Amino acid sequence: MCGIVGCTSTQKNIIPILLDGLKTLEYRGYDSAGLSFIKNGNLIINKVKGRVQDLENHLAKDENAKIGIAHTRWATHGKVNEINAHPHNVGSITIVHNGIIENFNKLKHKLKDKGYHFKSQSDTEIAAGLLDYYYNKYQNLDKTIQKFIKKVDGSYAICMLVNNDPNTIYVIKKDSPLIIGKGENINYIASDVPAILKYTKNYYILEDCEYGKITSDNITIYDKDGNILNKELKTYQGSNLTSDKGTYKHYMLKEINEQSITIRKTIDPYINNIDDLLKLPDLTKYERIDIIACGTAMHAGLTAKYLFEECTNTKCEVFLASEYRYQNNFLNKNVLSIFISQSGETADTLAALKKVKEAKCDTLGIVNVKESSIARALDKVLYTEAGTEIAVASTKAYTAQVALLSVLALAQAYRKKSIKEEKILKILEEFQNISSTLIPILENAQTYENIAKEIYKQNDIFYIGRSLDYYVSMEGSLKLKEISYIHSEAYAAGELKHGTISLITENTPVFASATIEKINAKTISNLKEVVARGAKCYLITDENIKDENFTIIKIKKVSMFLKPLLIVIPYQLIAYYTANLKGCDIDKPRNLAKSVTVE
Ligand code: AGP
Repeated sequence: MCGIVGCTSTQKNIIPILLDGLKTLEYRGYDSAGLSFIKNGNLIINKVKGRVQDLENHLAKDENAKIGIAHTRWATHGKVNEINAHPHNVGSITIVHNGIIENFNKLKHKLKDKGYHFKSQSDTEIAAGLLDYYYNKYQNLDKTIQKFIKKVDGSYAICMLVNNDPNTIYVIKKDSPLIIGKGENINYIASDVPAILKYTKNYYILEDCEYGKITSDNITIYDKDGNILNKELKTYQGSNLTSDKGTYKHYMLKEINEQSITIRKTIDPYINNIDDLLKLPDLTKYERIDIIACGTAMHAGLTAKYLFEECTNTKCEVFLASEYRYQNNFLNKNVLSIFISQSGETADTLAALKKVKEAKCDTLGIVNVKESSIARALDKVLYTEAGTEIAVASTKAYTAQVALLSVLALAQAYRKKSIKEEKILKILEEFQNISSTLIPILENAQTYENIAKEIYKQNDIFYIGRSLDYYVSMEGSLKLKEISYIHSEAYAAGELKHGTISLITENTPVFASATIEKINAKTISNLKEVVARGAKCYLITDENIKDENFTIIKIKKVSMFLKPLLIVIPYQLIAYYTANLKGCDIDKPRNLAKSVTVE
């Protein structure tokens, strides 16, 4: 979603730094870009609809400045066009903004009554107007910002230039991440650490309702009442973002293929002997586990629900964070809430987490990005070691989440003795060998490409399964629709007859997985029902099934705890090859953002 970069330096030209930072954030998804800087005391604003490269082409080749702010916009208020792109300037104030100003309509009317005119449909222009209004009124920037924090509802990470203060960048933050990077005679601002990692690893994290003043040689951070804060300077510990696709055509393909490594790396501390499982948090005292997440991360949560309930006899509910935050959560001290997030910045997940914290109940997280907002807000975090995921469609983060949740459930089974030790040892051995189990599935590319050729011109595709197979089919369906733009739905196989089967016509593709012995026969019957109505069926299974009515993708028989990891890979690769045949922008699908930082 939207990205922010800012920089002020004593000597260096900051234009290439701003463009470079924006390029690093491109993977998050955006539709327009803009940049503003001060040159010879004059404010210059450049904005384009399109890519950061278009913005770069738009600038003079030798453009030079010592202070500036930049932005990639993912449209929320108003169309994708140059006028709505950031920065927005009103009077003396120029800002870039991530988040949503919820009371912008009310503020707009008030400002109009005071004589303000607005050019765009964006809520950000109203925020700039309000800041300009208070600045004119108080002639004092501290008072201006403090008043702004009091009056504005919603989320914001704001980076601001002020006409008659040409050496300072001001920042304000609430419910949208913002960091300040520290250099030597140069300081940086960014919505995400990777944007500035090439230049500095040292940074301050702004918390909600804090604001800051940044010059090339000084950083001062204040609380909402204007008290100076003594903040901890953090040092980034992770590895640098690699922007290298290697020999792969797309990041998504590279990331799918990395899964044989990333899964193993994520679970390695817990699987080498049985007592390693005890390094994982003890969840036995909880009567219920709630899992809260969005999209793919929620799908990972569903696989854990199956394991906790079926293999450890622990009640487990899974919620979409966007729903959870507005419903009765029936929380009490005996409930553990687990939050799953790749980015660690998803607005709905973060809001749901804050709700649980307000209720003073325990939280645990499965997060990929270290030091992200969600990671910092949790009581306890288990990190997935998926590395940086650049493709918008999540693949290696999903399998890392699934694997980590699976070992967490296995630890619960060990502690509760719901599975015999002998069996646990066998499962651990399977986890130790996960890389070699996955490699042949990953290498089966020709099969997936052939299937892609059969389906890429279709408009509707269905995914079915029962129980755990159903949960993985939800992820298979999401992968296909987000990158190939083919409409697809996942259904519990037994539910088809209750309505959806009316959509099955000649040659409608139906994918199924059947990997749970006691119910496989039922799923196969459901598949036969759609074959009888003309469907073209594809079946992922670990059984020895021979049926000329289906194209069969055979996977190795493994324990329940590993099955989703094996089933999902063919689904990911079929989605990839289908989107590739359609010539889609696979790594940056239309309308989607990598990190969804607005509600
Ligand atoms: C997955 O392919 C999607 N891009 C999306 O559903 C994603 O999983 C969701 O937005 C949650 O993101 P998070 O894991 O960063 O919180």
